[in-house]
Amino acid sequence: MLSKKIEDILNEQIEKEGYSSNLYLAMAIWAETNGYAGISKWLYAQAEEEKLHMLKFIHYINERGGHAVVPAFKQPPKDQKSIKSMFEEVFKHEQFISESINQIVAATIAENDFTTQSWVQWFVTEQIEEEAQVSEILDKLNLLGENNLYLFDRDIMSMRAGGGTPVA
Ligand SMILES: [Fe+2]
Ligand SMILES: [Fe+2]
Repeated sequence: MLSKKIEDILNEQIEKEGYSSNLYLAMAIWAETNGYAGISKWLYAQAEEEKLHMLKFIHYINERGGHAVVPAFKQPPKDQKSIKSMFEEVFKHEQFISESINQIVAATIAENDFTTQSWVQWFVTEQIEEEAQVSEILDKLNLLGENNLYLFDRDIMSMRAGGGTPVA
């Protein structure tokens, strides 16, 4: 059985994963409507992954005797300045999510909830991969500059772990 404190912090993470999904969806739409088919595909896949993360939290809370809550989501930005600044935002957002996962780990230790502590380790590892993946994309964008994104747009999907299939 989850303590109220752990149930609350896990419910807050539902909002963060759900917002991540909506944020990447909005970015995917912007990329798609600006001619970046490959980048938009990457972002749509990313949005799907974040939705799966949200569902993981929902199912875990319910399985452990809590009650998951679907929150209101704030509207993500509709437009982006550039591909590079967009991926800088993705990177910042993933760092924010990593910090929030760390706070969950700290809360489970404070509450002696070792079951949740062990369960949430999957997200600790996932965040390492997510940050590494986006950091690699930013390295490539820094090499390319803003002008020649044709090949980048063509190849970005091959940079996904698992070749673009969302991993549950
Ligand atoms: Fe996530
Ligand atoms: Fe993520």
